[in-house]
Amino acid sequence: MNEPSPRFWEIFFDVYEHLPRQGPGSKSCAAQALALCSELPTQPEILDLGCGVGCQTLYLSELTAGSITAIDNHAPSIDRLQETIVKLELTSRIKAVVADMAAPNQVPESFDLIWSEGALYSIGLRSALKVCHELLRPAGYIAFTDAIWRKENPPPAVKASFDLDYPTMGWLKDDLAAIKDCGFELIGHFTLPDEAWWQDFYTPMEVRISVLRTKYAKDTEALAVLDQIAEEPEMHRRSSDYYAYEFFIARRT
Ligand SMILES: C[S@@+](CC[C@H](N)C(=O)[O-])C[C@H]1O[C@@H](n2cnc3c(N)ncnc32)[C@H](O)[C@@H]1O
Repeated sequence: MNEPSPRFWEIFFDVYEHLPRQGPGSKSCAAQALALCSELPTQPEILDLGCGVGCQTLYLSELTAGSITAIDNHAPSIDRLQETIVKLELTSRIKAVVADMAAPNQVPESFDLIWSEGALYSIGLRSALKVCHELLRPAGYIAFTDAIWRKENPPPAVKASFDLDYPTMGWLKDDLAAIKDCGFELIGHFTLPDEAWWQDFYTPMEVRISVLRTKYAKDTEALAVLDQIAEEPEMHRRSSDYYAYEFFIARRT
């Protein structure tokens, strides 16, 4: 494998921090998942793990009357969320915190719902589910999305891409087994539709990449990184039948 450019992360964040969200998802999918958490209290305590710039955190503030603690270990994303919270006058509802989800420093058994879109895999799904189990009240809910394979023998470029970012990615049955083994009862699951990849994620990503191609017009190293980042939406156009993002909703047993 080629060594990543030393500029990779600088350019990556120049793309990602400016997107409405940092992974696939949508408000309607959030609403569909939330509807399965049918016994939540009226004002639930919610923890959003790996919130990014907080797109789904804000959806949760619209879709519930709860209080939300939103955690991410990338400080610039939390800074951006904090600015939004102030602008929208949501400081009494949402707390944005820079923290590692592996050790989030929250009170055990204090949350009614733990939400996480596209982030639990960062510390390994099973480790993350154990953290969630400790933080949830008995019978509390977890709602999370995770990438899974859905077809054997992916093209080499697809396999290489996930091997790099998510080497332990499994199949639906692997995530269902992890949910059960980690002390949760599955309530439901569904696959994110294609528009949830494009509307707030890949479409703005392609717009941002083209803006940055102008900004970095004379910087060949940056342009090469932008080409590399642009491969992901292209790969999705060609090969999205090999993988999916699945929304899982489960309850602490
Ligand atoms: C694919 S992005 C998803 C962001 C957001 N949930 C969304 O859907 O737009 C994954 C997020 O997890 C965060 N993350 C990765 N490892 C983390 C960790 N150990 N603790 C907290 N956040 C982490 C990243 O900084 C990133 O914002």
